[in-house]
Amino acid sequence: MIERLARDGTAVARSDGSTHELFPVAASAAEGEALGGWVSRERAKRTIEVGLGYGFSTLHICEGLLVGGDSSARHVALDPYQATRFGDCGLQFLEEAGVSGMVEHHAEASEIALPRFLDEGRRFDLAFVDGNHRFDGVFLDLVFLGRLVRPGGILFLDDYQLPAVARAASFGVTNLGWTREEVSGADDLHQWAVLRTSEVPDTRAFDHFVDF
Ligand SMILES: C[S@@+](CC[C@H](N)C(=O)[O-])C[C@H]1O[C@@H](n2cnc3c(N)ncnc32)[C@H](O)[C@@H]1O
Repeated sequence: MIERLARDGTAVARSDGSTHELFPVAASAAEGEALGGWVSRERAKRTIEVGLGYGFSTLHICEGLLVGGDSSARHVALDPYQATRFGDCGLQFLEEAGVSGMVEHHAEASEIALPRFLDEGRRFDLAFVDGNHRFDGVFLDLVFLGRLVRPGGILFLDDYQLPAVARAASFGVTNLGWTREEVSGADDLHQWAVLRTSEVPDTRAFDHFVDF
């Protein structure tokens, strides 16, 4: 399925017959491969993604989970616009790839769903962030996901070439003790960065602030 989508670059939505150009909205093949590699190397069993879109990143995450060989591994994907903007193509591709059963989709904005997941006590090993790319959107995603992933968990961030995305990530590094594990080469369309959250509890003073 991954190879087919990468080769064809377009697809027709079963839901309404609309034709979709998948790229550059979908993650690039190189980014997908890097993402799947992080999932398998981290031996992740619980993953979460903001921005299902065409599900190209989702397919790579599922591949990484399957490489781990744990049949209980599961992925959560958020996208409030899956039906309206994407003609449910992401969900369609997951079904065609035979991985729908391991993906829990919520048609909700991350700023609504992530705090609820915290309240529910959910935990993840790795998060992929590719949703609302404005500063406040990415900042909220990272702050909530930083609490939802286990200590020392992975936050894989798309579109790091955008100043808003890089600045939001910088807060985690300068103020929360996160580390940059990987930054890909840049191009106009996609650059990714991989952050690892801190392993130690947050003991900042009430007025702690490092400019970022
Ligand atoms: C660049 S696309 C993601 C592409 C996807 N990673 C792929 O490889 O096909 C961005 C996605 O984020 C979704 N999105 C936008 N704002 C969001 C939000 N607040 N919460 C969750 N998803 C959001 C959009 O509907 C869209 O599906």
